[in-house]
Amino acid sequence: MKLNIAVLPGDGIGPEVVEQALNVTIAVCEKYNHELSYKHALVGACAIDETGNPYPDATHELCMQSDAVLFGAIGAPKYDNDPSATVRPEQGLLAMRKNLGLFANIRPVTTFPSLVHKSPLRADIIEGADFMCIRELTGGLYFGRPQGRSEDGDTAYDTCVYSRYEIERIVRLAFEYAMKRRKKLTIVDKANILATSRLWREVSKEIAEDFPEVETEYLFVDNAAMRMIQWPKSFDVIVTENMFGDILTDEGSVITGSMGLLPSASIGAHTSVFEPIHGSYPQAAGKNIANPLATILSAAMMLEYAFGLKAEAELISKAVTASMDANVVTEDIAGEGVKSSSTSEVGQWIVDYIKKN
Ligand code: IPM
Ligand code: MN
Repeated sequence: MKLNIAVLPGDGIGPEVVEQALNVTIAVCEKYNHELSYKHALVGACAIDETGNPYPDATHELCMQSDAVLFGAIGAPKYDNDPSATVRPEQGLLAMRKNLGLFANIRPVTTFPSLVHKSPLRADIIEGADFMCIRELTGGLYFGRPQGRSEDGDTAYDTCVYSRYEIERIVRLAFEYAMKRRKKLTIVDKANILATSRLWREVSKEIAEDFPEVETEYLFVDNAAMRMIQWPKSFDVIVTENMFGDILTDEGSVITGSMGLLPSASIGAHTSVFEPIHGSYPQAAGKNIANPLATILSAAMMLEYAFGLKAEAELISKAVTASMDANVVTEDIAGEGVKSSSTSEVGQWIVDYIKKN
C-alpha cells in the first residue's frame, strides 16, 4: 500500500515525540512492505515565527494533498504569558481543525496492566476501564462569535453556538461507534443550564430512536466528571461538545496513568489528523525526556483509521505495552526504583521490537 502523510511536529516537545512516532511508522511500513512517503510542515508558534501565520497556506495545502496528518503539539510560553498577543499558536490548531472539517475527535481511554498500580486512582477502580470519548471539535465556545472585549476592556465574552446539523453528525457517529463496541452511549451536557445543551439533548433523543439496541444515558458534565474517576468502568462511548470534551479527556488521562499516553484521531470532511492529547510541555522541550507513547499510539490509530491497517496498528500497540512491561519508560511513568529512559531510547526500543516481532 502507498501511504502519503504530512508530518506537523509543531512546538515544544512536539518535534521530539513526532520523530519517534515517525520512526515507528517507518519501521512498521518496512516490515509490511508499504511504501511510505512523508513531508514536514510548520504549525503553531514556529510557524508564526517564520511566516506570521500559525497555520500557513502551504501547510494547509500539504494536509489536503496527504492521506493523513501526524501532528505533535503546539503552544509556547511567550504566548501563554502574553494575553494581549493577537496571533496565537492555538489559532493554528483551531484553523487546521476548521479548514479540514475535523468535527470529531476520538480519544480512547484504556488502562495498561503495568501502570495500574502507579495511577493515583485505586487499582480496583481503574482496572479494565475501556471507553472512548468522542469530542465535538469545530463548534461551541472555541469557535462561536462574537468573542472579545468591551471597549473599556473590563468585560469579556465568548459565545457558545451549536446548530442541529453539527450535533446530529457527531451524535450519529457516536451511536455508530457504540454499535461497534459494547452498545452503551453516554451523552454529556449541561442541559439544566445551557440552551445549546438542551438542543444537544433534543437532537440526541431523536437520533437514539434509530439505534434501539444502544443503551443511552444522559449525564450533566459535572456529574460525568465525578463518575469518570469514581466509576470509569461504567462508560463505553461518551459523546460531548467541544469544551466539555477537552476537559473530560484530560481527566481521563489520569486513568491510563499519564497525559503522555493518550492518542487521538480527528476525523471529518477532509484529511484526518492524528495527535496526542497532551500539549507542547515547553519545560521539557529539547531535553529528550518527554513521553513519546501518546504520539506513537496516535501513529497506530493513523494506520488503522486512515489506512485500514489493523495488524500494523496492533503491532505498535503490542510494542508499546511491551516497552512498559520491560520498564523502558520515560520519567513520567517510571515510578520509584525504575531508571527512566529518554524519549529516543523508548522510541528506539519500540522500533527494535517491531523489527524483531
Ligand atoms: C487539545 C488541546 C487544544 C484544545 C489546545 C492546544 C487548543 O488542549 O487538543 O485538547 O483545547 O483543543
Ligand atoms: Mn486539551
